Amino acid sequence: MRKGVEIAPAEGKLGIMLVGLGAVSTTFVAGVEAVRKGMALPIGSLTQMGTIRLGKRTENRFPKIKDFVPLADLNDLVFGAWDIFPDSAYEAALKAGVLEKQLIEDLREQLQSLKPMPAVFSQEYVKKLNGNNVKKAKNKMELAEALMEDIARFKTENGCERLVMIWAASTEAFLEPSEVHSSIEAFEKGLYDNDPKIAPSMIYAYAAIKSGVPFANGAPNLTIDIPALTELAEIKRVPICGKDFKTGQTLMKTIIAPGLKARMLGLEGWYSTNILGNRDGEVLDDPENFRTKEESKLSVLDAILQPELYPELYGKFSHVVRINYYPPRGDNKEGWDNIDIFGWLGYKMQIKIDFLCRDSILAAPLVLDLALFLDLAQRAQMKGVQEWLSFYFKSPQTAPGLYPEHDLFIQLKKLKNTLRYLRGEELITHLGLEYYESDI
Ligand SMILES: NC(=O)c1ccc[n+]([C@@H]2O[C@H](COP(=O)([O-])OP(=O)(O)OC[C@H]3O[C@@H](n4cnc5c(N)ncnc54)[C@H](O)[C@@H]3O)[C@@H](O)[C@H]2O)c1
Repeated sequence: MRKGVEIAPAEGKLGIMLVGLGAVSTTFVAGVEAVRKGMALPIGSLTQMGTIRLGKRTENRFPKIKDFVPLADLNDLVFGAWDIFPDSAYEAALKAGVLEKQLIEDLREQLQSLKPMPAVFSQEYVKKLNGNNVKKAKNKMELAEALMEDIARFKTENGCERLVMIWAASTEAFLEPSEVHSSIEAFEKGLYDNDPKIAPSMIYAYAAIKSGVPFANGAPNLTIDIPALTELAEIKRVPICGKDFKTGQTLMKTIIAPGLKARMLGLEGWYSTNILGNRDGEVLDDPENFRTKEESKLSVLDAILQPELYPELYGKFSHVVRINYYPPRGDNKEGWDNIDIFGWLGYKMQIKIDFLCRDSILAAPLVLDLALFLDLAQRAQMKGVQEWLSFYFKSPQTAPGLYPEHDLFIQLKKLKNTLRYLRGEELITHLGLEYYESDI
């Protein structure tokens, strides 16, 4: 067996700093509190429920992931947050309307103690929101410094050994990479000059990386997907990952599309539409914010189906994605997919999916896993973009020049093989001939 990688122990408290204390964040925090009290199970969380096969199939070794790699214990987690509204997690959870009122009441004490710090915010990036719990400063560098002070203060006040930061705030308006994002120097100059192309999410990410805090981007904003911040993460030896939590309709797409391709079934078109009534839906009702989401959602099928390799099957399919803001549904989204496929001799078939899902219920366990795995990555001295966490994202970030892997099952294999690699266990190729041929 190889030696594996040296991993510092997960001792002491891990602070999870959430940007945005809305539906996803409050569902995540309330969920962890409920699990800690023994009121519920952490369903949907790979780190808590998942196992990993080790060695040969004849060895029967299937430890739980959390027993195989040293992850922070749920009892050692502490939460902090920023939001443009001053509501505590208790009030925010009630407003989000995801969890039952009784459950929120049962956790009232814990949720009320989580009050958001004033946010770095610009309405230029989210026109539909306007809150007053917002920092003011001369320029964007001063805002970054104020966030760094928040981070340091939170760490001391809560006696944390380590921290991670997760962006679970609203989706920002569409932004393309430009000159100010191209190097650390240009970016820092832009912070002093109040460059309009530096979005609030980038200021948080800069503050996190400068403070040595791993950062995950749960929304489709550009944020850390720019050379300035990926380089800074390398230099500061900080793990980062993104972007856009893979939940709901896109999760289904990355489950079904690999299956169609595996059987060489053709695709003529994939029409996806959603109705959604939470604040996220309201923000995405603005075309500029929806554009950011659309780019993230559209990239998935091309990357899985590889039309350039299979022009007869996937050369001409149309892919349409719509999100309609429809308040009565709240967080309980309904997503419809109509998939026009063709098979043997070109005969046409259709698949219809009607997914009545709960967005934040699907996203909350991802926040937990990302926080625990990013902390593991840092203790294992991993730095920069963590592609092995692409399992969790709609638009996985990769090293420059690499295309992202979107197939959920390849992503899971990559994640588990990374854990095996870290612990010096044999990587699993699923070849399996060794069970049949004695000389392999
Ligand atoms: N729920 C899912 O399944 C899912 C999946 C993928 C991505 N996302 C993304 O996760 C994010 C959060 O989703 P949600 O449903 O919790 O939304 P939400 O609207 O309930 O919560 C977002 C919160 O962020 C706050 N906010 C906005 N800008 C901020 C800033 N600059 N600093 C601090 N706080 C800020 C808002 O006030 C709000 O309270 C969204 O960007 C959403 O697109 C969610």
